[in-house]
Amino acid sequence: MISKTVSAYLPLLLSNRKEDPICAYIYDIYKLKKHVQHLRESLPSYCSLFYAVKANPDMKIIQALEGYIDGFDTASEGELVKILDHTDKPIIFGAPAKKDSELEYLSKGNLHCMNIESERDMHRLNRLGSVTGEKLPVLIRVNSTYQVARSSHKMTGVPTQFGIEEERIPTLLNELSDYPYLEIKGFHFHAMSNNLDARDHLEFIQSCLKKIVEWKAVFSLPSATTLNAGGGIGINYQNPEEPFDWEAFANGLQQMEALFTHEGIQLILELGRYMVGDCGYYVAEVMDVKRNHGEHFALIRGGTHHLRLPAAWKMSHPHTIYPVDIWFDEPLPRPEIREEHVTVSGELCTPNDVLIRKGYVERLKAGDLIVFSMAGAYGWTISHHDFLSHPHPEFHYLEEHLDKVDF
Ligand SMILES: Cc1ncc(COP(=O)(O)O)c(C=O)c1O
Repeated sequence: MISKTVSAYLPLLLSNRKEDPICAYIYDIYKLKKHVQHLRESLPSYCSLFYAVKANPDMKIIQALEGYIDGFDTASEGELVKILDHTDKPIIFGAPAKKDSELEYLSKGNLHCMNIESERDMHRLNRLGSVTGEKLPVLIRVNSTYQVARSSHKMTGVPTQFGIEEERIPTLLNELSDYPYLEIKGFHFHAMSNNLDARDHLEFIQSCLKKIVEWKAVFSLPSATTLNAGGGIGINYQNPEEPFDWEAFANGLQQMEALFTHEGIQLILELGRYMVGDCGYYVAEVMDVKRNHGEHFALIRGGTHHLRLPAAWKMSHPHTIYPVDIWFDEPLPRPEIREEHVTVSGELCTPNDVLIRKGYVERLKAGDLIVFSMAGAYGWTISHHDFLSHPHPEFHYLEEHLDKVDF
């Protein structure tokens, strides 16, 4: 589960340990580039690959991806400001609540298009277009009736704050003459999070295509040539040996090529988790091992204020124990457990600060490292960093492939 490059780097991290216990995010940029290059190359030509910046807005990751993707999906002015200086690639903006200053990026020509999430969005953008007299390129975000059953979070098909419900779309399309300053470039369908089933994802995309084709046939929508299927492809935290079957997904998209081309529709995938999740590792040193009321606990330097995902999803985060022979605290005794189940928690004063729930260990000692893998997406930035004012982790970026580090 730990990439060769990160394995080779861990001894270096240990040898540079000073007074403070180790606590670091390590991003395997080499692995990230290889992964995204493969994703891009396996997609048919009617399909564009965008990066959903919210998954990880780290500048080094954005820069690493720039050369491999077709564009960026942004959701706030903060993300836009980061991206604009670093790319000439198309940028999409989509957020359920938008400030005027954010809308203006569209009228100033900084964006490829913007998602419309409500009728109020339509009115506001139409008014903005009327100021310059130019039509603004938009995608209508549909809160569709279709549900991808096995995804872990559903944004559409159930009552949520996202998009415009599907039943309302024909009425709006009928009233487009009321919005002369909007150019409908297509539809946006981001519907789920962490879907692990490639066939479900293909069916979802096919259902979106069917809707667009119907709407194009009934309403005159010559400029509506984009189907943005959003993100939502998952990584399997519970069972990493059974990942989303990307090859089957890419093959399925290849088979749909004639259908899309015949309808003159371009597909956009804006992936976050699946693109960057696997390149990130959170490494934390075990500071104590103890027993309370018959259960074992290991406490790490760090916790859910750095990696909130396992607490948010109430799961054990995938991890590997990296045994460390050297004990930094001689002559004090070194606590350890063997062949036990252990709950791994952090340094916060709350029982919710748990990253591993009763995981089995052959042996675990104070001073060992726990390497949490699959921590590259929705890791650091969704976490409440400043709770308890502990120091932030270090950040390391591995650009080269390493088999072995000489030091
Ligand atoms: C509109 C939109 N597109 C793309 C994504 C990326 O989703 P994921 O990280 O699941 O691929 C999100 C995530 O919330 C989103 O809201």
